[in-house]
Amino acid sequence: MKTNCGLPQETVRKIVERLTSLTADLYVLLTKTLRFHWNMEDPRFYFLHELLDGQYHQLLEEVDLVAERIRQLGKPVSASMQEFLKESRLKEVKSAMDGNKMLASLAESYEQLLKLLRADVELCDKLHDPATSDICVELLRKFEKRVWILRSHL
Ligand SMILES: [Fe+2]
Repeated sequence: MKTNCGLPQETVRKIVERLTSLTADLYVLLTKTLRFHWNMEDPRFYFLHELLDGQYHQLLEEVDLVAERIRQLGKPVSASMQEFLKESRLKEVKSAMDGNKMLASLAESYEQLLKLLRADVELCDKLHDPATSDICVELLRKFEKRVWILRSHL
């Protein structure tokens, strides 16, 4: 399939490189959120279990948005578990079952993503790709809110 979104190939290459890492980051975070949803031990269990269920479903939509942008740019999506682990800038860590530790660990992952997304917005703007920039800004807005929500429980 050939698509032509009007961007130079070198621009597409640079943007897809970032989006590939972002797809992997989001998939690793999605898996972490689901793991915490399952394994949490906390007096507020039901509430936090449901909170993370919502975040897991939001992340599924968000990773889909990023991966489909790669397709719109005409490239295939690297999407095996091995590739996700290789490409992700968020590393998988062992964690306690304690609710507060889990929420803090998720907040830290989102905070790391905020820094990466700001750099992505800068690159997209420099390369004149407002559509990808808009996706990154949307994620920034959502993740800043998610950090606020997570940290509000600590
Ligand atoms: Fe569940």
